[in-house]
Amino acid sequence: MESNKKQLTLNLLMAVGSAVIGSLQFGYNTGVINAPQKIIETFYNETWHRRYSEYIPSTTLTTLWSVSVAIFSVGGIFGSFSVGLFVNRFGRNSMLMVNVLAFISAALMGFSKLAESWEMLIIGRFIVGLYSGLSTGFVPMYVGEIAPTSLRGALGTLHQLGIVTGILMAQIFGIKEIMGTSTMWPFLLGFTFIPALLQCAVLPFCPESPRFLLINQKEEAKAKSVLKKLRGTDDVEEDMQEMREESRQMMREKKVTIPELFRSSLYRQPIFIAIMLQLSQQLSGINAVFYYSTAIFEKAGVSEPVYATIGAGVVNTAFTVVSLFIVERAGRRSLHLIGLMGMAGSSVLMTIAMALLEEVKWMSYVSIVAIFSFVAFFEIGPGPIPWFIVAELFSQGPRPSAIAVAGFSNWFANFLVGMSFQYVAELTGPYVFIIFTVLLLMFFVFTYFKVPETKGRSFDEISASFRSGAEKYTRDDLNTLGADSQL
Ligand code: GLC
Repeated sequence: MESNKKQLTLNLLMAVGSAVIGSLQFGYNTGVINAPQKIIETFYNETWHRRYSEYIPSTTLTTLWSVSVAIFSVGGIFGSFSVGLFVNRFGRNSMLMVNVLAFISAALMGFSKLAESWEMLIIGRFIVGLYSGLSTGFVPMYVGEIAPTSLRGALGTLHQLGIVTGILMAQIFGIKEIMGTSTMWPFLLGFTFIPALLQCAVLPFCPESPRFLLINQKEEAKAKSVLKKLRGTDDVEEDMQEMREESRQMMREKKVTIPELFRSSLYRQPIFIAIMLQLSQQLSGINAVFYYSTAIFEKAGVSEPVYATIGAGVVNTAFTVVSLFIVERAGRRSLHLIGLMGMAGSSVLMTIAMALLEEVKWMSYVSIVAIFSFVAFFEIGPGPIPWFIVAELFSQGPRPSAIAVAGFSNWFANFLVGMSFQYVAELTGPYVFIIFTVLLLMFFVFTYFKVPETKGRSFDEISASFRSGAEKYTRDDLNTLGADSQL
């Protein structure tokens, strides 16, 4: 049932705005290591020399740098998996609490030069990875829970908008005219401190999720008063009714642990879809672009690769805004399909450009067009949608476990691409993007056949559709779930 009331109140915007500062931190730390690579490597080299009176062997430097980049996603893996530990106990306060991690990591990275310790930088990257992994669970969950059904997709896309704004900020701050210099890079990395401070200042004024209040804490009166503020109206009966229904459903479901998600026929299908959507986001190859774009452009013969990288960041942000405005009209499924197909086409174009570069010089321009359209199509669907659709595919009971599993899959695939892209690119030469083309086409087929449309449907309606699908499974299956739940 689609509500026509737009219900976009100041309170709601402020709550979402405060939450997505966490997304901005994630994006910032994704993009921040791209531009100053050479400068920070020099710092590693000098520190090594001071300690051991010799320059760092180049293979050791490469390894140290790869670890510095990829340890962020290792932190993300642990962080995203721990989401459930926090939210069921602390609700929205979890977002506030984990800022401790952001402060610690900013201090470690910001003072690493002064302390002549690259170890501090690496540990700082791991800790900010932990923070980011937790945020990729907290933010979509909180936003999904406070948004009215008719705005859930648009507000959910704000998480991605926070991420891409963070990436773009990091790309711009990283140029040598701003903070990309040998004296300023500690500030570039330590900048994480500022958004953390800002989030600590504004989050205490944001309301608790009414779903958390009603369903987890049984505080019906409080839930109602929060809802009135968020919706800007006293008439919140429809929302309350929906939450009560979800709560009733959850009483029947009991607590849902991660193993139960896979064992029960009720959840097996949505969790499979959630995982595949996360994989489609990361194995599309998007972070090959955001971690290594400068090197990619260099190889493709672009004369100012750093500016082409910033161009990709601008296109990335612009198309996230486009998606924000069309996601409630076009629907999740169709945008995801269009995005995947467009990316597959762009990666074919990229391969052609790379393969013909020797003979046709202007192919370097074609490679810019190819990367820009690759990024644009990503943000139409595969960028924002997987992040918020998981909260839509599950009701309150299994939601935290499902988000943890989805987050884990996302970060693990992120780690794989980040670690292996350069090696694979060396092996395959100009044909590296063909691998992404094949994967993208596979994910297109999967989405076409398996992913349902969730636009304009309540959480309860969505999980009911999976329930009715699961009813064809045997009774034994359901009995197993009953037995598990009592463990
Ligand atoms: C998504 C991905 C993230 C990527 C970003 C690019 O949020 O999860 O890994 O860097 O999009 O815009």
